[in-house]
Amino acid sequence: MVTVHDVAARAGVSIATVSRALNDRARISADTRQRVLEVARELGYQPNDVARALVGMATRTIALLLPDITNPFFPELVKGVQILADERGHLLLLCHNADDEEKAVADIEMLRRKKIDGILLVAGALGAGGIAAATSGIPTVVLDRRIPGLTCDLVTVDHRAGARAAVEHLLSLGHRRIAHVTGPMDVVSGHERRAGWRDALVAAGIEPDPALVVEGDFQEDGGYEAARELLSRGGFTAVFAANDLSAIGVLRGLIESGIRVPDDVSVMGFDGVHLAAYTTPRLTTVAQPVFELGRRAAELLLDRVAAGAPQQHPETVILGTSLVVRDSTGPAPQPEVES
Ligand code: RIB
Repeated sequence: MVTVHDVAARAGVSIATVSRALNDRARISADTRQRVLEVARELGYQPNDVARALVGMATRTIALLLPDITNPFFPELVKGVQILADERGHLLLLCHNADDEEKAVADIEMLRRKKIDGILLVAGALGAGGIAAATSGIPTVVLDRRIPGLTCDLVTVDHRAGARAAVEHLLSLGHRRIAHVTGPMDVVSGHERRAGWRDALVAAGIEPDPALVVEGDFQEDGGYEAARELLSRGGFTAVFAANDLSAIGVLRGLIESGIRVPDDVSVMGFDGVHLAAYTTPRLTTVAQPVFELGRRAAELLLDRVAAGAPQQHPETVILGTSLVVRDSTGPAPQPEVES
C-alpha cells in the first residue's frame, strides 16, 4: 500500500509538507503543493482517514449541530453547508440535539474523539459554559443564534433589526395594536426579535402592551395556542409571530375562530421558509438568507481549518434580511362608524 512516506520520498519533501499539501493547509507554496498532489496521483495514494486521524492529520469531516431538524428553516441551512462542504471535499455529519445542551456537549465530545476537523453550531437554549469548554481547541463557527459569553466566529442576521422591519411594515399599514407571539425566551433569536418588536413600537410613540405578548415556541402548535390566547384577551389588529412556523399556527388559530386574515387581523412571520408562500393567505414575512447563512458559515469554518491556526480574531458576519410582502397583511380595519 502506498503511504505518505512514499509520496514524501518521491516528491523530495518532508512528511509535514505532504500533510500540508493534502490537507490544503497554508504555509506551502503553490508549486510544492502541485508537485505533491501530482506525485500522490501518480503513485495512486489513497488516504486512510483512520490512519490520518491517528497522526493528527485532517479527517476532512465537519459536523453541524442543530437544535431542531423538523423546522424547515434548518434543512435549508443544511443545504448551504452541504454544498460548500462538497465543493471543498469534506464529509458533513449532522447531530440533532432537540435543544438539549447536555446532548450537544456529549455530541461534541464524541466528535472530538473522532478527530473532527471543525464544528458548525446552532445553539438551542444553550448557555455558553458547557459549549465553550467542549469546543475549546476545535475550529468552531456559531451560526444563526449568537451564544452570549462565547467568543467565536459567528454568522447570523440582525434578528432585532429584522423584527423591527416587520413591525414597521404593520405600522405603515395603519396598525397600532400589534401583538407579538414570541420565540422561546431562553433562545437568543427569540429574545432579540421581541426587542425589535418593542423598538418599532417605541419609535412610533406607542407604549408596548404586555397583554399583547404571548410566549411561543417557534412551532405551529405554540402559534396556534398563542392565537387562541390573544383572541381571549382581544384588542389587537395585527400579529407579528417570531418565525414562520408559529405564524402558520397563528393563521390557523385565527381562521378557525372565524377571523378574516388580513381583513380583520394581519399576520406576519420571520424566516422566509419556502412553505410560507403556500399558506392561505400567503404569508408576509421577513426573509433570512438561510441558504447563504449555511454556506458562509461553512466557508468560514473550512478557511479556519485550512489555515490550521486557532481563531485568534473571531469574525462576525451579519447578513441582511428582506421584507417579503404577500397576502396575510393589509390595512388596519377602520373602526365601524355608528349611525
Ligand atoms: O425557525 C427557527 C428559528 O430559530 C429561526 O427563525 C432561526 O433564525 C432560529 O433562531
